[in-house]
Amino acid sequence: MKWTSLLLKWYAKHGRTMPWRDHPDPYAVWVSEIMLQQTRVEAVIPYFEKWMKLFPDIPTLAAASEREVLNAWEGLGYYGRARNLHKAAKIVASNFNGQLPRDLTELRTLPGIGRYTVGAIASIAFRMDEPTLDGNLRRVFSRLYDVTEFADSPIGEKILWDLAAQNLPKGKAGDYNQALMDLGATICLPKNPRCLLCPLMTACKARENGSQELRPVLKAKKQVPQYIQAAAVIVERGRVLLSQRPADGLLGGMWEFPNARVAQNPAIEMVKALRSASGIQIKRGEALGIVSHAYSHFKVVVHPFWSEAVSIPKNKKLKWVKVSELNEYPMGKVDRQIAQKIK
Ligand code: ADE
Repeated sequence: MKWTSLLLKWYAKHGRTMPWRDHPDPYAVWVSEIMLQQTRVEAVIPYFEKWMKLFPDIPTLAAASEREVLNAWEGLGYYGRARNLHKAAKIVASNFNGQLPRDLTELRTLPGIGRYTVGAIASIAFRMDEPTLDGNLRRVFSRLYDVTEFADSPIGEKILWDLAAQNLPKGKAGDYNQALMDLGATICLPKNPRCLLCPLMTACKARENGSQELRPVLKAKKQVPQYIQAAAVIVERGRVLLSQRPADGLLGGMWEFPNARVAQNPAIEMVKALRSASGIQIKRGEALGIVSHAYSHFKVVVHPFWSEAVSIPKNKKLKWVKVSELNEYPMGKVDRQIAQKIK
């Protein structure tokens, strides 16, 4: 039996239940696929359910404010995904009558929709014979065919996309793609793959060659830098000063406590660093503990301090917010933790 038949049989029995699998409405599939990029299924499910209640269709999402959208996404990370989803919903609402286009070239022009997402939406929602390739599929194909090229090189990418396309069973692309995702997530694990439970054990070249732990071959990752920051918690008469981040880039449009990077000693360097970063002049008070976080490309250790305002520049990005209303302002994990400490 060809391995794809074994895979589909396994999927029929062991495929995971997920809320968007019950109703493959294109919008639901799109939302789930964007949430699932870089985030595990278990973490996504509650966000997906809340999201579909708040924004049940594309026109509703298009009409929402950026703050509502970021609030609903808060905690999932990689907030550019939410901003792109929102932007794309506005485009679909105004140019495509509120329906995701079935034309794959048009689909691909939408913000946040790349080759992977096009393949996933086309196969799962539109039942088209389209392959896709994510981290799980890269690993599964690298092992199944014992691919020795770097999986993250242009040649490796091409080999893997070709394998995904060549093996696709006609009329069953949605199940095929999702079965490979589930296999990668539950059996063909990055470390200690569970080969003895794998429905494709007899077809797997890496297993035959004993190289499964060496696949996929990936280029060595660079060490991520680590930064130290000081953050000012400036409270006056029940209000606290927040600063809104620039619209683009990391945590774009989200709110934070005014902060600045320091070289070594936050308690000593903070006042000067904050003044030169933002023009905010403060008197530093007591420390509120330490919060750290690992982003995709760097780590930060943030030292928040109670602070007193000496001089606050006029700036549209700065806002005095009631402590009791902090939850209405979307924040990244670090600043939300600081907000919790204040309360
Ligand atoms: N990861 C990303 N998309 C997925 C899907 N549709 N099913 C399972 N895992 C996924």
